[in-house]
Amino acid sequence: MSTLESILKETRSFPPSDDFRHKATVSGMEAYNALCEQANSQYLSFWEKLAREQISWKQPFTRVLDDSQAPFFKWFDDGVLNVSYNCLDRHLATQSDKTAIIFEADDGEVSRVSYAELHRRVCRFANGLKSLGVKKGDRVVVYMPMGVEAVVTMQACARIGAIHSVVFGGFSAGAVRDRVQDAGATVVVTSNEGMRGGKSVPLKATVDEALALEGAESVQKVVVHQRTSGQVAWDASRDIWWHELIASQPESCEPEWMNAEDPLFILYTSGSTGKPKGIQHSSAGYLLGAINSFRWVFDFKPDDVYWCTADVGWITGHSYVCYGPLGNGATQVIFEGVPTYPDASRFWRMIEQHKVSIFYTAPTAIRSLIKLGADLPKQFDLSSLRVLGTVGEPINPEAWIWYYETVGGGRCPIVDTWWQTETGSAMIAPLPGAVPTKPGSCTLPLPGIMADIVDESGAQVEPGRGGFLVIKKPFPSLVRTIWNDPERFKKTYFPEEFNGQYYLAGDSANRDENGYFWIMGRIDDVLNVSGHRLGTMEIESALVANPLVAEAAVVGKPHDVKGEAVVAFVVLKGARPVGEEAKKVAAELKNWVAHEIGKIAQPDDIRFGENLPKTRSGKIMRRLLRSIAKGEEITQDTSTLENPQILAQLQQPL
Ligand code: PRX
Repeated sequence: MSTLESILKETRSFPPSDDFRHKATVSGMEAYNALCEQANSQYLSFWEKLAREQISWKQPFTRVLDDSQAPFFKWFDDGVLNVSYNCLDRHLATQSDKTAIIFEADDGEVSRVSYAELHRRVCRFANGLKSLGVKKGDRVVVYMPMGVEAVVTMQACARIGAIHSVVFGGFSAGAVRDRVQDAGATVVVTSNEGMRGGKSVPLKATVDEALALEGAESVQKVVVHQRTSGQVAWDASRDIWWHELIASQPESCEPEWMNAEDPLFILYTSGSTGKPKGIQHSSAGYLLGAINSFRWVFDFKPDDVYWCTADVGWITGHSYVCYGPLGNGATQVIFEGVPTYPDASRFWRMIEQHKVSIFYTAPTAIRSLIKLGADLPKQFDLSSLRVLGTVGEPINPEAWIWYYETVGGGRCPIVDTWWQTETGSAMIAPLPGAVPTKPGSCTLPLPGIMADIVDESGAQVEPGRGGFLVIKKPFPSLVRTIWNDPERFKKTYFPEEFNGQYYLAGDSANRDENGYFWIMGRIDDVLNVSGHRLGTMEIESALVANPLVAEAAVVGKPHDVKGEAVVAFVVLKGARPVGEEAKKVAAELKNWVAHEIGKIAQPDDIRFGENLPKTRSGKIMRRLLRSIAKGEEITQDTSTLENPQILAQLQQPL
C-alpha cells in the first residue's frame, strides 16, 4: 500500500465566486483555517461549543468526552435530550407554518407538509407505536418506500426512544429476516406497496415472506401504511393498518427524554464477512454531526429548498433527509420515484418546479443521466441552484465538469462529500464558501475531523502516495459499536496495528501537495455498486446457498455507470455447464442472488470453472479473478497456482 503511486493528473481548481463567498456561513479560507485551528488547539471545547449551540438540551451536559473505555467513546454523556424534539418541536414557535417536506410522488403528484403538520403526524404515530407496547430501547424495523411516512416513522421512533433499523426497500425477504433477527425487532413498519418508475413494489408481501422464515419470531406486530390500492395478504393477529392505528391517537406526545449516548438507530451495512454489521449510532453525537455538517457543507440558509435524492434505507437518507435538514428547520424535497421516469429529465424538471437551491445526489445517477440526455438540463430553468453535492463513490472528472457546467451553470460549488455509514456525517468535503474544489477530490476535512493517510505502521505518508485513510481522534457522530458485536467493532475499526488509536475507515486514499484527499477505493472485500456498499462475502454466501453451487468467488469490475459491477466465478456441484446450459444456470443464479439479497447485488457476469484458481495452500487468488473480470491479460505470477488450467475456463464468457 505505502508504495502505491497515485496516478493523479487533475490540476483544475474552482474557487467559490466572490458573491458566494461573501454570503457563506464559513466565508473564505481564513475562516475555514481559523475553525480548524480552534479544533486543533482546543479539541474538546471546539465540540462543546457546537453541541451547546446547536442542540436543544433538556438537561445540559457537564462532560464533553469520556474516553476511559476507548474505543467505546462517550460524548456529552450526562446530557439529556430528544432528537425528534430537536427536529420538530423547537421550530414550532418560530416557523410552524414553514414547509418541512415537499413530497413528489412517483406519478408527479405534489403535497406539502408544514413543520406543525409533521409534528402532529409524528406525535400521532408515536402514540400509535406506544399503544402497541413499543417502548424505549425496543427495535423497530422500517421497510418503506421514500415518502413522508418513512420520515414520520423514524422521527416517531426517536420521539419515544425506540431504536429504528431501516432496511432499504430493494432488499429481499432474506435480508429483512437477517436484520430483524440480529436486532430482535418486535415491530415492523411497512407499506402495502411502493411505487417506483410506474411499477409497484410488493413490500408487505416481502415482509410476510421474511417473517415466515426461521429466526424472525421476535416480531409481534406489522404496521402497514396503505400507499396504493393494491391488495395484500392479511394476518389479523399480527397486521394493523397505519390509518387504523393512528385514528384515535392524540396529536401531541411528550418526548421520551434520552441520555446523549442512548442509541438512536441501527443501520446495517456490508463489511468483509458474510454478515452485515449493525452500525449503532448515538443520540446527541450523531445529531450534532448531522446538524452541523448540514450547515457547513451545504452552506444552508433558512430560505433554501434542499433536495437529497438518497433513499432513507441508506445512511445518506438518515443524516441528510431525516435528521440534518429537519434539525436545521429546512424545507426539503422528498421524491418517491426514479430519475428516469417518465423520462430522463425528471430531476431537472423537479429542480425547476420546486426551485431547488441545494441538490445532493450520487455520481452513478449523474453518469446515467449524462448517458440518457447530456443536453436535457438546458431545457429547464435551473437558476435556483446554488450548491451541488455528490456522495457515495468517487466522481470521475468528466462527470464532475458536466455537473458543474451543465447543471450548475458554472455558478455552483460542488461539494463532493466523503463519509460512511460509520461516520454518521460528512467528514471530508469542501465548505463551499471557502475551499476551492478540484474535480474528483473530496478536498479537505471538516474542521474537527482529524483525517490522515498512513502506512501499515501508522506513519503519515508523503503527498502523492497511497495509504490507509484514518481519523486520528474520535468525533461525536462516530459509530458507537456494532450491535451485538463489540469485539468486531474494536477489531474492524480500531485495529491493533495502529495501537487501537485510529479509526480505520477501510478506504485507501492519497493527498496531493495541497493536502487534498483523493479516495482510491476500499481496502477490504467491499464493492461499491452504484454508490451502494456490498460485501463480496455476502454475495458468495448467497450463491453457495443455492443447491447447485459448490463454491463461488465474487469480485468487482469497473462499470461506466454503476462505478463497479459484480462478477461471480462459480463451481457447480455437477459438471461445469457449457453453451446454452451455462446461460440457463447463470440466469437462474442471478435471480437467486436477487431473491436472497436484492437486485442491487445481482452479478452482471457469471463464469463457470471446474475449480477456482487457488494457491497450494487452498487460498483463492482474487487478484487473478479481478484481472479476468476486467478482461485483462494475466501478467501476474501464476507459479504458486495449484491449477493454472482453470484460468482459461474462467476467461471464457458465456
Ligand atoms: O468507499 C467509500 C465510499 O463509500 C463508502 C461508504 O459507504 P456507505 O457506508 O454505504 O456510505 C455511503 C454514503 C456516505 C466509503 O468507505 N464513498 C463515500 N463517499 C465517497 C466515497 N468514495 C469517494 N468519494 C466520496 N465522496
